[in-house]
Amino acid sequence: MKLLPEETRRFVSAMVPDRDDTLREMETHGEEIGFPTVGPEVGGFLRVVARMVGAERIFEFGSGFGYSAYWFAGALPDDGEIVLTEHDPDELDDAREYLERGGYADRAVFEDGDALETVERHDGPFDVVLIDCHKDGYPDAFDAVREKVAEGGVVVADNAMESGIQDFETILEILEDGDPDDVDDQTRGIADYLLAVRDDPDFETVAIPLGEGIAVSYRT
Ligand SMILES: C[S@@+](CC[C@H](N)C(=O)[O-])C[C@H]1O[C@@H](n2cnc3c(N)ncnc32)[C@H](O)[C@@H]1O
Repeated sequence: MKLLPEETRRFVSAMVPDRDDTLREMETHGEEIGFPTVGPEVGGFLRVVARMVGAERIFEFGSGFGYSAYWFAGALPDDGEIVLTEHDPDELDDAREYLERGGYADRAVFEDGDALETVERHDGPFDVVLIDCHKDGYPDAFDAVREKVAEGGVVVADNAMESGIQDFETILEILEDGDPDDVDDQTRGIADYLLAVRDDPDFETVAIPLGEGIAVSYRT
């Protein structure tokens, strides 16, 4: 399903901040291999969020070939840090190459392996966290990182509304207090994540229909 009417989508798309040749090349690469990056609209949003909170440290669950990380990196100070996590070593190699090309490799930490294990090796505080790994892992990712999010920090979850492997209507039903039968693991993961951040007294969360839908949670 389309989250936005076509004209609204074009409007949002026309407002994406300027991006360099490397980001555009990454977009072409993603399209060619059919890789699900966050896309330029969410990418631009991530960079603005990082700038708004003055981010110095960022953690990503699921970095692929570094598209979202590249957007983030542009907002970091020279001594900032972004931790990329990816369990596909080939994707991580591509991420390293792209971030090197952008001049951001000095502020990037490349972690090969399961993001849910990697996060245990990194102390907070993080100013921004992106959750974009396997969908049934979102609740565990949030549990693992919530104490490491700085006060005034932000957690962004991609695919809050759709991803091609989760059921939008079922998630909506669960959010509206329904109790559907036979919920698949991906749908359950996203729904449980959204309930967790919505009901967490230390976070204030909104859902935004950008890209495939993001949930943005501010740590109070
Ligand atoms: C949807 S893609 C998004 C990548 C990136 N955020 C972007 O916008 O380009 C998700 C990536 O997370 C990786 N991934 C999924 N679950 C993971 C996990 N538990 N640990 C590490 N990587 C994971 C996948 O291999 C895939 O490359």
